[in-house]
Amino acid sequence: MRQVRRVVFVCLGNICRSPTAEGVLRARLEARGLGSQVEVDSAGTSGYHAGELPDARMRTHAARRGYTLDSRARQFVAQDLERFDLVVAMDRENRRDILRLARTSAQAERVRLFCDFVAEADTADVPDPYYGGAEGFERVLDLIEAGCDPLIDHLLSAGTTR
Ligand code: 4NP
Repeated sequence: MRQVRRVVFVCLGNICRSPTAEGVLRARLEARGLGSQVEVDSAGTSGYHAGELPDARMRTHAARRGYTLDSRARQFVAQDLERFDLVVAMDRENRRDILRLARTSAQAERVRLFCDFVAEADTADVPDPYYGGAEGFERVLDLIEAGCDPLIDHLLSAGTTR
C-alpha cells in the first residue's frame, strides 16, 4: 500500500484561491479513485478571514462547475512545512511569505508555485480575484483545473517522497 501524501494550498486569505484548489483537487482525486491516497488542505498566509467559509462569489463560480467549497479558513503556520509533503503557493508573494517561515532547506524545497503544474502557463501567479469581477473568479478556476491533474501525477510519482 502506497504511503499517503499530503498537500496544502496556500493563498493570502484562504477564502478564494486556495480553498478552490483544495476542492478541485479533491474532486479530481475522487474521479481518479485516488481519494484515499492524498490528504488535501488549504491555508492563508494571513489570518484575516480565519474561521470563514470561502468567499460567496468564489463558491458560486465553483458550484457552476460542480465543485462544493466548504472548508473553513485558517492561517498557515511554520509547522505546516513539516506536516505536508507539498506546499503549493498560489502566487509568488504567497511563496515569499511561506519561505520566510522555512527553517531547513528540506522545508523550503517542499514549496512550489501552483502555476509550475500548469502546462504552458502564461502566468507565474494565480491572480488574486478578491477586488475584481466575475472573470477573475473564472480565471482562478481555469488555472486550477489545468494544474490539478499534473499536480496529482507529480505527487504520486516516485522521487517526491521524503
Ligand atoms: P485569496 O483572496 O488570497 O485568494 O483568499 C483574497 C481574500 C481576501 C483578501 C485578499 C485576497 N483580503 O484582502 O481580505
